Amino acid sequence: MTAQRIDGKQLADELICKVRDRISARIAAGKRAPGLAVVLLGDDPASAVYVNSKRKRCEEAGVVSFSYDLPASTSQAELLTLIDELNANPDVDGILVQLPLPEHLDSDLVIDHINPHKDVDGFHPYNFGRLAQRRPLLRPCTPRGIMTLLESTGVELAGLDAVVIGASNIVGRPMALELLMARCTVTICHSKTKDLAGKVAAADIVVAGVGIPNFVKGEWVKSGAIVIDVGINRLDTGKLVGDVEFDTANKQAGWITPVPGGVGPMTVATLLENTLDAAEQRESDAIQP
Ligand code: GUN
Repeated sequence: MTAQRIDGKQLADELICKVRDRISARIAAGKRAPGLAVVLLGDDPASAVYVNSKRKRCEEAGVVSFSYDLPASTSQAELLTLIDELNANPDVDGILVQLPLPEHLDSDLVIDHINPHKDVDGFHPYNFGRLAQRRPLLRPCTPRGIMTLLESTGVELAGLDAVVIGASNIVGRPMALELLMARCTVTICHSKTKDLAGKVAAADIVVAGVGIPNFVKGEWVKSGAIVIDVGINRLDTGKLVGDVEFDTANKQAGWITPVPGGVGPMTVATLLENTLDAAEQRESDAIQP
């Protein structure tokens, strides 16, 4: 037996079509297209690949993209001034500063400076707090996209045991909050966790986001479990692999995401969904622009 594949590429394409239709309806009603500002500092090749894919998908969805490619030497004050301008620009609904930043810059300070109602990454403490309180506004893209992938399986999530491997602010922590909101029983594992294999073996859902190739062994996976692989690791051979040993996990799991073509495309599609949501939330009475 092999697992059923969760096709992130196809689900991302479908989500982008839905976003495009919603934007077409806005324009037909005399409203403007949502705008997304994507800020990239320095010339890290992996970040450049991610940012280019975000900008390209904007076009497909009908989101207006504002690009800021700044040198790695940009000062903290210069970056905060740009964010002030974007916060004040009525045509910009979403602001994304690609992480990691060059070492001399303080990413916490930068995130705190973004207007929370334009924080389409969902990283601002305001949005994080809203998610923790089960009344989310803008939700971090990778975990929100993973919830869309999980929902696509049709499996009832309430009551399932979920293990999240990796406790980062971008993936692990908000992922745990999303799964808790879906009424899973959630365990967050990290570098000090004891008996990781035992915890994975007891899980109905495994989400791996550690950035280490083939870190989760397929033989640990419980028969029939849903396996979500957030890792995108390039081996010396040039091959892209996830954090989960795919071939062995594929024999154990009930459902599994491939790498590439799983979580990655959903993260980008969810960013566009968040940008449209941000535009609509700012137009609604509930949020002051
Ligand atoms: N770097 C890796 N993933 C992300 C993400 O989701 N958002 C931002 N801003 N930077 C990232």
